[in-house]
Amino acid sequence: MARIVTTTPLFPDQMARLDDVGHETIVCASEGLAAEIASADALICMLIDRVDDALLARAPRLRIVSNVAVGYENIDIEAARRRGVLVTNTPDVLTESTADLTFGLLLAAARRIAEGDAAVRADAFPAWGLDQPLLGLDVHGKTLGVVGMGRIGAAVARRGRLGFGMQILYSDRSGHETAERELEAERVPLERLLAESDFVCLHVPLTDETRHLIDRAALDRMKPTAILVNAARGPVVDEAALVDALERGAIAGAGIDVYEDEPTVHPGLVALRERVVLTPHVGSATRDTRHAMAKLAVDNVLAVLAGEPAITPVN
Ligand code: GLV
Ligand code: GLV
Repeated sequence: MARIVTTTPLFPDQMARLDDVGHETIVCASEGLAAEIASADALICMLIDRVDDALLARAPRLRIVSNVAVGYENIDIEAARRRGVLVTNTPDVLTESTADLTFGLLLAAARRIAEGDAAVRADAFPAWGLDQPLLGLDVHGKTLGVVGMGRIGAAVARRGRLGFGMQILYSDRSGHETAERELEAERVPLERLLAESDFVCLHVPLTDETRHLIDRAALDRMKPTAILVNAARGPVVDEAALVDALERGAIAGAGIDVYEDEPTVHPGLVALRERVVLTPHVGSATRDTRHAMAKLAVDNVLAVLAGEPAITPVN
């Protein structure tokens, strides 16, 4: 029997799977973690939990950190490796949901869905006219630039190409033969992608290289009619530069799900409404997907505690 600490209550059926094999599971919020970790064999944690070397140093028995997210920049992977602690994440199970949300933001910003919703509710139904106040931008047939053709980037590209007849440009460290063959995606340098895309979607992990990848210079390369969509990680975009670019009309709009300093959002971004849509980091937030993430996190813990290989290790 092992001791498992989770920073969030898992779904009851997943808690039951841990109980069933005789493990003891403690739910412990971030603040209490430093104390509880001392006797833990496994940690199940969330993006908002910082797992650094100091925390790992207090956990002599710890064998696995199971992050309930695909991203894992909250964990010091190198320190975990040094201390012989396995780290796992939850890839694949959230790919399609996150791509759905990305496309939702793209459509909502282009077609001004949130602004229209607000107008209807405010009893400000615009008068019928060809040139009406909520004119938006077409999506179908336009050029979609995918920055980072990983699993989620490819799922967004598929939606754009097969659902909306878009041309797909992408930038990535490596070529993606399947996307090129099946979606006629063209790999181009980021500068060209920014200059030619009508929609730029970000799907890179947060690393030292991608922090502020989209800065003022990058935003200025984009078309003034283009829309930026970020459902990856907030710090990939310089949020102050984004606000400035939107205010100056350097780009036409944005669909944003992630922020530099969550849960704080730049007040300048909140103040912008025209073709700007903001959601609270809900890329993977559907019932089915969150359940699948919890299940995969538990699968990883059960495997490692049973002496078997992790299912989705990151180190
Ligand atoms: C969510 O943002 C994740 O990385 O799973
Ligand atoms: C996430 O699963 C990605 O590789 O984009």
